[in-house]
Amino acid sequence: MCGIAGYTGKRKASEVVVDGLALLEYRGYDSAGIALFNGQGNLQITKKAGFVSHLKKAVYGKEGCCGIGHTRWATHGIANETNCHPHCHGKFCIVHNGIIENFATLKKSLQKKGKKFLSQTDTEVVAVLLDEFYKGDVLDALGKVAKLLKGSFAIAILCHDFCDRIYFLKKGSPLIVGVGQGENFVASDQLAFVHYTDNVVFLKDNEMGYADSNNVFVFDFCKNKKVLHVEKSNAKADNVAKPPKSFMHKEIFEIPKALRMTANDFFNDEYKKQKAIDIFSKNDKVIMIGCGTAYNACLVGKLVWEKVLHVSAEVDLASEFRYKNPLVSKGTLVVAVSQSGETADTLRATKLAKSKGADVVVITNVAHSSITKNADLVLHTKAGQEVAVAATKSYATQVLLFLCIACVLSKDSKAVKEIKKQIDDLPYLATKALLCDTVVAKKAKEFCKKQGTFFVGRGLDFPLAIEGSLKLKEISYMHSQGFAAGELKHGSIALVDKNVLVVGIITQKKVAEKTINALHEVSCRGAKVLVVTQFDKMANEAGCHDVIKLPGATDLLMPILAVIPLQLFAYHVSVARGINPDKPRNLAKSVTVE
Ligand code: G6P
Repeated sequence: MCGIAGYTGKRKASEVVVDGLALLEYRGYDSAGIALFNGQGNLQITKKAGFVSHLKKAVYGKEGCCGIGHTRWATHGIANETNCHPHCHGKFCIVHNGIIENFATLKKSLQKKGKKFLSQTDTEVVAVLLDEFYKGDVLDALGKVAKLLKGSFAIAILCHDFCDRIYFLKKGSPLIVGVGQGENFVASDQLAFVHYTDNVVFLKDNEMGYADSNNVFVFDFCKNKKVLHVEKSNAKADNVAKPPKSFMHKEIFEIPKALRMTANDFFNDEYKKQKAIDIFSKNDKVIMIGCGTAYNACLVGKLVWEKVLHVSAEVDLASEFRYKNPLVSKGTLVVAVSQSGETADTLRATKLAKSKGADVVVITNVAHSSITKNADLVLHTKAGQEVAVAATKSYATQVLLFLCIACVLSKDSKAVKEIKKQIDDLPYLATKALLCDTVVAKKAKEFCKKQGTFFVGRGLDFPLAIEGSLKLKEISYMHSQGFAAGELKHGSIALVDKNVLVVGIITQKKVAEKTINALHEVSCRGAKVLVVTQFDKMANEAGCHDVIKLPGATDLLMPILAVIPLQLFAYHVSVARGINPDKPRNLAKSVTVE
């Protein structure tokens, strides 16, 4: 987590850096800070708790053409100005993304030598170490310090002796250099400098270097110079303009387009389809991994592949998979799903799978993201930039890709023809599903004061219940839980009373009646019940319940269509409770720490 932006050139660094940080707020927004060399070579530090907009006001008009900034997601130390980056010691001032796992040991030994620390962060130890090792050659100090650090880090550094240079250090966390004309940039994501240059260098692990306004130099940690690979950026400036309502609402309404783009991209790529067939035929075991919403997409993917391909798949949380010595070897296919492609646990789990001989297929929304480097095949969800912290359109496209892959792998040509026809109709059906927005907003207002919400469903509706629940709690702070509809009665029904809302998801023909039974059981215990269904009959049978009606479609498409009212419900509850749905507390869009 955390976002780094740095600039050196002729422009006002305060403006370039702060605008860059604003575009990186998806990585965290607990506090923001900046270090600027003013024209006289003096370093000015400004820090603010809270959003980048607070920092923007504080640095408005400040002079200086070289600076580094940081937007923080707190890991070590509370979110106040003291723990806010940059952290400085002696001649060095640094911003950091990642976690220094051995910081406590390093800090103790530095304290024994009499070094004073101001913050509770792991980062400050790096600034102190750099100053300790610095004998006039910054690269020398960087290399020595890098070798001492355990964990992951992307660090941008200013040194008082070189007031037009940004030094950098990378291992495990993303760091990118933007190459301009007479100006250069360093950032966690290309987005930070999308308005200035599309020439980028994706730094690799165990690399360090520096940029001034005219040059970029990259070295390994032993100071061996490396050849610079400048590539074209794929970040787009027009995707990040602030919408009138919120990014989340806008992004939910982009689902139809995202679905069309994703299906077209996949089905028109003969190479990728053939590669998918080759990889699948080589393996006899499938494991799907991800975190958060991406994990929930895997839960759907597993059921879709079971139904269409008649293969069983395991699904694991990436954070569990990587620490349990997973049963993976040659012959295992690991499908790793990650919107950002930067989630630390998914990244490390994917590397582990590869090192154990597995074939790895990655489903990601971000081309060039770190996870793509470990993949035998990369499949892109074409959702476009997703800015709101809560994943919406990316989830819909992840599930769609599982379905698309199943179409290509299935030998049942009749079934495939039918599913493909439905996929063609998906954007239209999703547009119809979005029509429920007004009704959902009304229901959200009505239910926004409930103490808690259970989401229940069976079959493909079960993972959907889990995803609906995750969405609600992350942006509305209302307690909620997703359940298999038949499981609620085995204990958790004890929590049900008139203060509880139960959302029943009924989209799967075979098990629809059974889910209705579960809803009657909670309704007669006082719970309010909201039904999300594609069936008119169920809507009527639900009788006393509130109903959100979905367009009719084949069962396999419903995890994509029925998620729309669930996302909208979470959004409207969040707004009704006076919360900013785009930036919920304690969260970040991309979790690049373990
Ligand atoms: C964070 C986000 C979630 C997201 C998860 C996985 O926790 O807040 O919305 O689902 O990371 O992210 P990824 O980029 O790997 O899909």
